[in-house]
Amino acid sequence: MITTITLNLALDKTYFLSNFQKGKTNRIKQVHEEPGGKGINVAKVLQALGYEVKVSGFSGGFNGLKVQKLLNERSIPHRFIQIEDESRECLNIMADGNGQETELLEQGPTVHQAKWGELCQLVHQLASQSEFVVLSGSLPKGVPINAYGQLIKIIDHAKAKAILDTSGEPFQAALSEKPFLIKPNEPELMNWLGKEKLSRQEMIRAAEKLLDLGIPHVCLSLGANGALYIGEEGQYSLTPPLLEVKNTVGSGDAMVAGLTAGFLSNLSIEQTLKLGVACGMSNALHLYAGCIKTSDIKSFQAEIKIEKLS
Ligand SMILES: Nc1ncnc2c1ncn2[C@@H]1O[C@H](COP(=O)(O)OP(=O)(O)OP(=O)(O)O)[C@@H](O)[C@H]1O
Ligand SMILES: [Mg+2]
Repeated sequence: MITTITLNLALDKTYFLSNFQKGKTNRIKQVHEEPGGKGINVAKVLQALGYEVKVSGFSGGFNGLKVQKLLNERSIPHRFIQIEDESRECLNIMADGNGQETELLEQGPTVHQAKWGELCQLVHQLASQSEFVVLSGSLPKGVPINAYGQLIKIIDHAKAKAILDTSGEPFQAALSEKPFLIKPNEPELMNWLGKEKLSRQEMIRAAEKLLDLGIPHVCLSLGANGALYIGEEGQYSLTPPLLEVKNTVGSGDAMVAGLTAGFLSNLSIEQTLKLGVACGMSNALHLYAGCIKTSDIKSFQAEIKIEKLS
């Protein structure tokens, strides 16, 4: 089983309308709701690929209950720690008339210390039943800045493998616990190094530095440019074919799902990386984050160029 942890759950709502006019009354044509947060996106893709998955994290108020209902409808098992504050609602306003997209993102709840302790216990329990635990996304207010580091330790004790996809301080603080796999994108890597631009060679050097810290697998995702893998299994560059994308939000999450699936199924590193890239591509062709078409995955895998660098 794979467990995904979403500490800052979201009810992702999309409003469709013809034109969005600031300062005016706007009538909505259609509303769509998705269970959201990066770990949830990863779980949706893993489930579509046919893997047994469970989601966990903090859930609060009506938005939390709504997310649980949406997960039930998709038959995705969940076990959350209930908190008092309301989980976030993230609103995406899609105006098809002028093609404009406006996002309104709530900050999310504050988590109290006692609830953090409860979550750590739950993660230990779930990790004991899992091969992999995926830690994704930002931290809600109130949890320690090294929250992911603490969870990686717990996951290690439970003899599962931790996969980390986050940014900024929570990323930096967790590295010393040596997660099994990390998947920074280019801005996340630049942020870690405190740089504003990186050449390909510099990206490879940076990933090698991460490897030197004891992280066995580093996969850098580069959007339309594909991915670089620097790890125990060598160095690879992957290039996807040109795509007419709909929405790339969540492509990184889909990639994390594909990589986790590949490692769990003991695929070769080449196949694992291609599965990750193919899932990211398929996500980019869909409007909602964490949605892929499994029938596309095979044909995409055949179209991805993979080159062994060393
Ligand atoms: N425009 C695109 N064309 C082809 N493949 C893409 C495109 N955008 C993303 N992908 C695929 O998805 C993978 C992950 O995308 P990206 O690097 O944008 O992740 P990310 O920034 O972490 O995304 P998010 O955090 O929103 O999930 C890429 O490595 C690539 O394989
Ligand atoms: Mg990402």
